[in-house]
Amino acid sequence: MTTGVFISFEGIDGAGKSTHIAALAAVLREQGRDVTLTREPGGTPLAEKIRELALNEAMDPLAEALLMFAARRDHLQQVIEPALAAGQVVLCDRFTDATFAYQGEGRGFDKAVLGQLEQWVQARPEGGIRQPDLTLLFDLAPEIAAGRLSGSRVPDKFESQPVEFFRKVAAGYDLRARQDPARFARIAADRPKEAVWQDVLAAVRRKAWLA
Ligand code: TYD
Repeated sequence: MTTGVFISFEGIDGAGKSTHIAALAAVLREQGRDVTLTREPGGTPLAEKIRELALNEAMDPLAEALLMFAARRDHLQQVIEPALAAGQVVLCDRFTDATFAYQGEGRGFDKAVLGQLEQWVQARPEGGIRQPDLTLLFDLAPEIAAGRLSGSRVPDKFESQPVEFFRKVAAGYDLRARQDPARFARIAADRPKEAVWQDVLAAVRRKAWLA
């Protein structure tokens, strides 16, 4: 049986990852892979309810971090682990790196606590923790991302943050990428969509998950 593959997509708001996630799902399906396309916070009925709260209600950083991880726990158990066990490719729009970047660096919440939550929530019965096999990090200057966001739909709690917040979030992602370079592929997202897409394909081909 084919082994499951877990790919996450990260970057500050406005970095433009969404279209590439859908396109990658289509290409993988054309090549005969079963693909689960999902997102965080969210991906299950319960986690989508948590998303609604976490993205729209004001709350302290601990409450926010706990909600992100509660949603993640449900998502892992109900969707991600079963899909991987069935040999599917799971494409996830954000995962735990987002919690370290947004709640950790962005909000300034204690990263040692986040690290403990990560250990509990992503623990695997066979030992170790579940992490993506590959994380595509869409790199874009916060000023450019902010320009892309303005004029789009009504912003949520995070999208309406000042550029300074996204500078911290970007630094948070950068730190995570440095801590686990083998898992990350950085995609320079300040270029035409087609060039960015070619880099997305190249990163997945390097892992031999795509012909
Ligand atoms: P996003 O993924 O950008 O979805 P959309 O395309 O609908 O805007 O929105 C999710 C938001 O949630 C984004 O601003 C980042 C934030 N977030 C956190 O703060 N912590 C987390 O752990 C996750 C997964 C997301």
